[in-house]
Amino acid sequence: MDDQRLTAKPVADSALTLTQFMQPEHSNSLGTVHGGVVLKLCDECAGIVARRHARRPTVTVTVDSVTFHRPVLVGQLLLVHGAITYVGTTSMEVELRVETENLLTGEIVHTNSAYFVYVALDDDLRPTPVPPLDLLTEEERRKFEAGRQRQQARLARRA
Ligand SMILES: CC(C)(COP(=O)(O)OP(=O)(O)OC[C@H]1O[C@@H](n2cnc3c(N)ncnc32)[C@H](O)[C@@H]1OP(=O)(O)O)[C@@H](O)C(=O)NCCC(=O)NCCS
Repeated sequence: MDDQRLTAKPVADSALTLTQFMQPEHSNSLGTVHGGVVLKLCDECAGIVARRHARRPTVTVTVDSVTFHRPVLVGQLLLVHGAITYVGTTSMEVELRVETENLLTGEIVHTNSAYFVYVALDDDLRPTPVPPLDLLTEEERRKFEAGRQRQQARLARRA
């Protein structure tokens, strides 16, 4: 095992914002953006965040339920903010916050949030340890504890 790879890392080192302009090809039959397009971008953003933290290939193991509070419209800019909230031994929880930006007015609207959980894999595609989180702020410590409790609940449901 490469010890250097498991040095604690701050949340900010892997955090990412993905942006994509919503085009007609992203719309459903109502003319608003397909929920699957938003979820795919969430998985893409969170997967990059997890890989940046682990510096290993990762797979999605579970996604918590997602509620869309507001529709996303064609012509808006979609912003997907992803950051790690909790790490276990081989798993990482990534929090996503999705917003839209109206490019003409600058108005930012929060449309949904989600939690995706990833597992890092070794060269034989088995779960492998990830670096701990170097928690630098009170908010990061609060989010870590909330993530730990969510993960406990997920594992209890799985059992
Ligand atoms: C992810 C996978 C490798 C885990 O394998 P596994 O045999 O369950 O491995 P383990 O029991 O050792 O669990 C590995 C980690 O996943 C976590 N985990 C497993 N099932 C989970 C679940 N339902 N919810 C949340 N975490 C879970 C475990 O708690 C453990 O985390 P920890 O090491 O931080 O404690 C395996 O389930 C898999 O390959 N799934 C398919 C992934 C995939 O194809 N995703 C979609 C495309 S990317």
